[in-house]
Amino acid sequence: MKSPIVAANWKMNLTIEEGLDLVKQVLDGSSSDGSEIIFFPPSIALSAIGGVLKNTDYKVGIQNIHHEKSGAYTGEISAEMVKFLYVQYAIIGHSERRQYFFETDAQINGKIKSALSANLCPVVCVGESLPERQSGKTNEILKKQLMSALKDIDNISDRLVIAYEPVWAIGTGKSADLNQVYDAHNFINEILQSRFKNHTPILYGGSVKAENASELCQIKNVDGFLIGGASLQSESFCQIIKNVT
Ligand code: PGA
Repeated sequence: MKSPIVAANWKMNLTIEEGLDLVKQVLDGSSSDGSEIIFFPPSIALSAIGGVLKNTDYKVGIQNIHHEKSGAYTGEISAEMVKFLYVQYAIIGHSERRQYFFETDAQINGKIKSALSANLCPVVCVGESLPERQSGKTNEILKKQLMSALKDIDNISDRLVIAYEPVWAIGTGKSADLNQVYDAHNFINEILQSRFKNHTPILYGGSVKAENASELCQIKNVDGFLIGGASLQSESFCQIIKNVT
């Protein structure tokens, strides 16, 4: 794995103060040497955390964006609005947004285009549910999600990251096993290779912990991790960074 990406998805956790404390502890307790470490705090904390990180090698991203630049969309935030806050990445199509906020493939495609036009790097999440895996549909689902997410997108100028996150592994403590991760990343990589000239990084997400990070990151085509629960505490997050780098 070259230049691994270690991304912290805090979801709807931590106050601004708690987030600032956590970032300071991670800055003190880790080194970003040769890797890309990205914090995805709740949007309310972006300005404060971007302010702390802007003179460091650590990066900050937003957990979701709206696909329009501006307009009558109460409660929403656009890519154009956050790029001034040192925000460089945007998670798009996380399974929790697909599940709880009914995000469609068409909206996800619009969000990716909007992120790219604001010069943000989209971190696009794909992954199958447990019934889909059990009925042997994993590849079919991954292909469908990827193809519709990337519809009419040809020029990514090296600004695209994919996260393979099997829905059944998120927040359950039960990560996908090494063969499942190998197969899914290999399959996703083949699709991406046929679309884009350069290698697109593929992260694994779903119950990544300090204990399983070392073996998961040795799998071919695993370029890093998108981490939820274990990114909320500095010790576990710093240990993962150490294991990966
Ligand atoms: P988890 O979440 O690490 O808590 O499983 C990962 C994610 O949802 O991105």
